[in-house]
Amino acid sequence: MVIKMTEPLKLGVLISGSGSNLQSIIDNIEKDTLKAVIKIVISNNKHALGLERAQKHGLSVAVLQHEHFKTREDFDTELIRILKDYEIDLVVLAGFMRILTPVFLRAFPQKIMNIHPALLPSFRGTHGQKNAYEYGVKFSGCTVHFVNEGVDDGPIIIQSVVPVLQNDTEESLACRILKEEHRIYPRAIQLFAEGRLKITGRKVQVNNAEEIDEIALHNPALAGF
Ligand code: GRF
Repeated sequence: MVIKMTEPLKLGVLISGSGSNLQSIIDNIEKDTLKAVIKIVISNNKHALGLERAQKHGLSVAVLQHEHFKTREDFDTELIRILKDYEIDLVVLAGFMRILTPVFLRAFPQKIMNIHPALLPSFRGTHGQKNAYEYGVKFSGCTVHFVNEGVDDGPIIIQSVVPVLQNDTEESLACRILKEEHRIYPRAIQLFAEGRLKITGRKVQVNNAEEIDEIALHNPALAGF
């Protein structure tokens, strides 16, 4: 009997900072809950802690400092060159603090994912957790989405909702959200690896998804109402 082995999904992970999402992807690959391989980790910040995390796990890393490039397009062209060299199947933005140009998006159509620390389309931009906290919402969360030409705008793959508690600070809320980021990002990548995501317009169809049915969350609780 021939057992058909499918190749693990080849990832290129782009970071700028702490790399805790990168770490959760690495951990899930090592646990075999995520059938993927990280071919290259690229940072635009040479001091990113995520680079150390990657090296600890024997991953290839590259530093591409955006300030060394004349234009955003030049920077993106070099990024594309490296990622194509590694023949990557999916670009994973994990705290990558650069806006990518259409040059980059065209090189990897429907093959770029991002994680955002708020329930999109609310609280786009760099301070998702802070803005949600200051707005006074009772729930926030995080979103994994495909990347399109807008900022934090692409088709949504998966979201996680967390409550905002009365005695939360901006930091405690951010921490609760980050824990969920570490759960949903590897899951979204695994769904992609299994070929279960189909994009139609703004919508992402997840094949064979176990959906939650008629569940409503209330915060504060409804207490018998
Ligand atoms: C995360 O909050 C992510 O949602 C946002 O940037 C942060 C990156 O954190 N895009 P880390 O570098 O993965 O720890």
